[in-house]
Amino acid sequence: MKIFIETDRLILREMVPTDVDGMFELDSDPLVHKYLGNNPVTSKEQVMKYINFIREQYEKRGIGRFAAIEKASGDFIGWSGIKLNTGEKETLNGNDHFYDIGYRFIPRYWGKGYATESSIATLKYGFEELGIETMCGAAEVENIASNKVLQKIGLKFINEFTYDDIKCYWYELNREDYGKTMS
Ligand SMILES: CC(C)(COP(=O)(O)OP(=O)(O)OC[C@H]1O[C@@H](n2cnc3c(N)ncnc32)[C@H](O)[C@@H]1OP(=O)(O)O)[C@@H](O)C(=O)NCCC(=O)NCCS
Repeated sequence: MKIFIETDRLILREMVPTDVDGMFELDSDPLVHKYLGNNPVTSKEQVMKYINFIREQYEKRGIGRFAAIEKASGDFIGWSGIKLNTGEKETLNGNDHFYDIGYRFIPRYWGKGYATESSIATLKYGFEELGIETMCGAAEVENIASNKVLQKIGLKFINEFTYDDIKCYWYELNREDYGKTMS
């Protein structure tokens, strides 16, 4: 099983089919989906399809979200990482080919700094290992925690846009500006 990144408290590894129970706990929780369209999954089959889609992205797009494991407990806590969005169905804020940084954790692991910790390491991986030019991020305006994470890790606010009638903020960071913050 490929490990992409290790941080102080987390392992970010390849998502595998045996993550199905953890992913079901995550994606069937209405609290988790409050700012994700309020449409939690209702079956493990739906989750399996999503896991397979992520695994296909590793192959076809060179990257996909990582499963996040808490080192201290060995628990699957959710996912974090990079997605290459491409094609008409994945267009967002007028962009149809872009890398975005994202995260989604089971609620009992919220508030421990895991989104921030995993995203700082993911940004480094994206710019330094994958050579990504621009990293994007988007969050519903009301999703305070997610907006905070994107700002804390250094993404810059670009504009407000609407997705499915919901107000969202769009952020970006390019490699040159990332380099400046690192020097
Ligand atoms: C968004 C999410 C990943 C944040 O994860 P997390 O590990 O709890 O985030 P962190 O602990 O790194 O916290 C980041 C900041 O947000 C703040 N925060 C966390 N939850 C918050 C909440 N409910 N309301 C307000 N602020 C909150 C933290 O205090 C922290 O700010 P600080 O450093 O100034 O104290 C988590 O809430 C989640 O999985 N939500 C459901 C899925 C989702 O919305 N994903 C994002 C879609 S854009």
